[in-house]
Amino acid sequence: MATGFLLLPAAAAVETSVVCPVDPIPVTSVQTDALFALAAGRLYAASDITGLQPSGAKFPFGATARQTKYLRSDAYGWTAGFYPAELWLMYERTADPAWLALARTWTKSLLPVSKWTGSHDLGFMIGLPAGLGMRLDPDPAQRITYRRAIINAAKSLSSRWNNKVKAIKSGEYDGKWGLIIDSAMNAPMLIEAADMVGGAEGAQLRSRGQKHLLTLAKYFVRPNGSTFHRLTFNPKTGALTGPVYGQGYNMATSTWSRGQAWAMYGFAKGYAVTGNPILLAAANRTNAFWNQQVGLGCVPAWDLAVGSAFAPRDSSAAAIAAAAMLLLADLDQGGGADNRQRALTTLGTLTSPEWTSVNTQNPGILIRQTWNVPILKYEGSYVWGDAYLLESALKVSGTTDQ
Ligand code: GLY
Repeated sequence: MATGFLLLPAAAAVETSVVCPVDPIPVTSVQTDALFALAAGRLYAASDITGLQPSGAKFPFGATARQTKYLRSDAYGWTAGFYPAELWLMYERTADPAWLALARTWTKSLLPVSKWTGSHDLGFMIGLPAGLGMRLDPDPAQRITYRRAIINAAKSLSSRWNNKVKAIKSGEYDGKWGLIIDSAMNAPMLIEAADMVGGAEGAQLRSRGQKHLLTLAKYFVRPNGSTFHRLTFNPKTGALTGPVYGQGYNMATSTWSRGQAWAMYGFAKGYAVTGNPILLAAANRTNAFWNQQVGLGCVPAWDLAVGSAFAPRDSSAAAIAAAAMLLLADLDQGGGADNRQRALTTLGTLTSPEWTSVNTQNPGILIRQTWNVPILKYEGSYVWGDAYLLESALKVSGTTDQ
């Protein structure tokens, strides 16, 4: 187990602030057992919604370091799917029917959102929890419900397609038609839904999902493997009109840490569902940049260009990056063992008591995450980091000791 942490600049051209274990060690089964014990208590406590405010927002979102209760969102928040996903992961880990019942209840209350065309985030909101439900629910009738929701969500996302940009609109940024790197996580759902739909409509979903990822790979990945966060386009011509500010430090030159991790995971998943080598190359290049900037087992500041040792961390970026490395290791396209070892060592850090809520009153699991530093500079615990930490810990637990 790690015995302490040092603040270090990364050994690379860009000075990045990272927190590194004195002795980086791969995660052990003792650590994953402790993580799931902590998660069981935290996730069960969050399922009690008797004291909710009249707004009715019930889906856990996150809590800053000193908060003891979750801020919650309604079903239309981009983070609403992560808590149901965590419940499915607890069911997968334990096979306990109590977790199955909770996972079903929370997932079902999200499913009407699948027909909403107002968000590019339906992959997170519907694809993630309904996909887990399709894989894990023992009842075929329930699985059909989740499958329908994924098809509806894919069609809703597809309705945001622009044939000039060759992408699904993420949003209006500075009043312009925009794309965001996070959308790499949502597009694979269209490709997964394609086979469920079949025919010409399925072929169109597959084509749009793949083209969206290729557009991201073309415009968002810089020659050194770093990424932009938000770019805008002319929707009538498809021409790039430039970067705009999002959650990163500098819209043109810096790399928002979580965006880089979303890119790594989204391109790896995109390759897994398409076999397209351009997407594998994008996954490998973004992964290589991460590894160059963030040392073995280290956790970066919220933006990879931020050199201050006192800048807020984003441990969620490290959790997502570890999950991406495990996906790349599964794909085993060269570097598989190295990716797995890096992921295990990152998980060794993130499951140590310095990075979990075990010694705090925080309602989440993984601490020292950040949401959107330009708006809120405080570290906290957020459901997306928790979900990807649990996904990765579940994948490796029992396979190694480690
Ligand atoms: N909007 C996705 C994120 O904040 O990571």
